[in-house]
Amino acid sequence: MLRIYLDNNATTPVLTEVLEAMRPYFGERFGNASSIHHHGQETRAAVERARDAVARLLGCRVAEVVFTSGGTEGDNLAIVGLTIAGDHVVTSSIEHHAVLLTCKHLEENGCEVTYVPVDGRGLVDPDDVRRALRSNTKLISIMMANNETGVLQPVEEIGKIAAEADVYFHTDAVQAAGKVPIDVKRIACDALSISGHKMHAPQGVGALYVRRGTHLQPLFFGGRHERSRRAGTENVPGIVGLGKAAELAMQGFEHSDDKKMSTLRDRLQRGILAQAEEAGVNGEGAQRVPNTSNIYFDHIEGEAMVISLDLKGLAVSTGAACSSGAIEPSHVLVAMGLRADRARASIRFSLGKQSTEEEVDIALALVPETVARLRELSPVYKRQAVSH
Ligand SMILES: Cc1ncc(COP(=O)(O)O)c(C=O)c1O
Repeated sequence: MLRIYLDNNATTPVLTEVLEAMRPYFGERFGNASSIHHHGQETRAAVERARDAVARLLGCRVAEVVFTSGGTEGDNLAIVGLTIAGDHVVTSSIEHHAVLLTCKHLEENGCEVTYVPVDGRGLVDPDDVRRALRSNTKLISIMMANNETGVLQPVEEIGKIAAEADVYFHTDAVQAAGKVPIDVKRIACDALSISGHKMHAPQGVGALYVRRGTHLQPLFFGGRHERSRRAGTENVPGIVGLGKAAELAMQGFEHSDDKKMSTLRDRLQRGILAQAEEAGVNGEGAQRVPNTSNIYFDHIEGEAMVISLDLKGLAVSTGAACSSGAIEPSHVLVAMGLRADRARASIRFSLGKQSTEEEVDIALALVPETVARLRELSPVYKRQAVSH
């Protein structure tokens, strides 16, 4: 069966160039990057080249890049590493669980956390962040791009607020990296997390930018790796892959790949909305990363849609999570004010660098017919159709 993958916000395929760059580090170049002999020097040089590429992607100094195991670790390291009991933290209600549950952990350990709301477009209001500040606020953590809607947050304004208040600012840029240009100086953040597998590098590697001079408590204790900010032997092949992916992302921006991606995404979105009734875009009216479109189709169950499309070879997702047997609507969409049934009827389409026009056209043939068939099966929808 022809399989089309439009779930790149969940994970992306490793690009061939990335895999080729990594390959020697699984075989002949196997040294521990901390060893002083030839084998170690070879892998140390590769790690430092990758650090340089990531630093260029983020607009920071090489010494400010800490390699991690991914986005979750970067978020945990920044939030736990910059706070102590008694501190107050400001975050938003639409963060990824890697941030939200780390904040919950802080609350259980003597910190206070304010969760600022979002508006109907999924946007944080910087004034809400300013108003949430207290005398003991230590950290603001607001994401750069939301994983479900792709909505870009006003991080530069929030960075200014944090700087004026002399409060640390961390941003989870996992869904922004490689999709939109990032410049940590413009954002004026003290910490920023990225993840390899959301930008065509492998799973299990990421990086945290930590501004020079920032006092960050490590999460792990052991060797003095990563300037004592992250103990543990480096994942050399993964780091090399992340470096290559960063390089390719930079080249992509030079070739306007982000514009081409948004053109393709818009074609998908427009095509779906032209064919499916009672459907709309979640996050409409806000700036979004170029690859994401989150669309509600009233009177369907998102999970049923995902399964039906998967049977036809199209991979997409819902933001919903199954907890204790019940399907919980996405906390992001609920925070945006969507009714629970509309949140459950929402589907996330997310493109990757490998996505093609042909794939979008096939998706455009599959999605409306699947929506129509599922609505046929919906007793509520049928009752409404009869009464109209
Ligand atoms: C916004 C955001 N933050 C953090 C993460 C976690 O990253 P990782 O899977 O690398 O741990 C994800 C992954 O879905 C994400 O979308």
